[in-house]
Amino acid sequence: MKPKVLITRTIPKEALEIVQRSCEVELLKRDRSTPKRELIRRLQGKEGVISFASDIFDEEVFSQVPHLKIVSTVAVGYDNIDVQAATRHKVMVTNTPGVLTDTTADLTWALLLATARRIVEGDHFVRAGKWKHWMFMLLLGHDIHHKTLGIVGFGRIGQAVARRAKGFDMRILYTDLFQADKAAEEAVNATYVDKETLLKESDFVCLHTPLTPETIHFIGEKELKMMKKTAILVNAARGPVVDEKALVKALRQGWIAGAGLDVFEKEPKIERRLLSLKNVVMAPHIGSATMETRIKMVSMAAENCVAGLMGKRPPNLLNPEVWQG
Ligand code: GLV
Repeated sequence: MKPKVLITRTIPKEALEIVQRSCEVELLKRDRSTPKRELIRRLQGKEGVISFASDIFDEEVFSQVPHLKIVSTVAVGYDNIDVQAATRHKVMVTNTPGVLTDTTADLTWALLLATARRIVEGDHFVRAGKWKHWMFMLLLGHDIHHKTLGIVGFGRIGQAVARRAKGFDMRILYTDLFQADKAAEEAVNATYVDKETLLKESDFVCLHTPLTPETIHFIGEKELKMMKKTAILVNAARGPVVDEKALVKALRQGWIAGAGLDVFEKEPKIERRLLSLKNVVMAPHIGSATMETRIKMVSMAAENCVAGLMGKRPPNLLNPEVWQG
């Protein structure tokens, strides 16, 4: 008998076929997260689940789905999954690292450029029919080239963002729990500094850290006050890394110049006061949202899930303690 797998959203045919070859699939034909009660109900009798960043898997879920062997999330970040609880219940957890690195780094740059050069304000200005004549002092932004880029979290995505900065002749600083190896630093000419130095010296601060208990509100009032008044903050990591209330204060009172945000503290709910600020460019968590990358991510998740259920070690296993190969 084929193992039963739940897929919590409609996925491209290519990826669906990978799972269907060896599993019996229940596919939810929609594109939104599944409430916890429904998730638990649908997981009854399922051995695998292919899920997405907004589906919550915690102790309450794991304790009520005794057949479950693997949660394969279609994302690199997995803060929505309590991996320790999964491990206690002997459930494998996998993610999709690597395939979305460049796409997310591109989006980071899109936000950085759009914020610094006021592209969204310019777009609104043109559409509103306000452009009557060319103006020398219209929508003056901030230079990007030859400035200092500060990267918080020098992992795959942080390094890909740094590689793109080379074309802008930027000075690159980074901070992380540990200093990266020489080769990684030299590849992009990046300098390891402490958090305070990074915040004080950077013109652009880009966040690429996973969400962990240590990184919640990594950027709060104190940090925003340390930044330059001309600095721009870009968050394409996870919303709660920034204290959104403090950010609103900083943007309204001019502690920093602007922010480019792809993620929000309680998304899709957004701190209401952010919406009226012109110095913010916002996107609805689309860091990895290109057709090419979404197909790669979901195919990778399908392969992880099938491997786990066919008795092979899933390539992107996050809790190897559970593996009994
Ligand atoms: C998206 O946010 C991801 O973690 O892949």
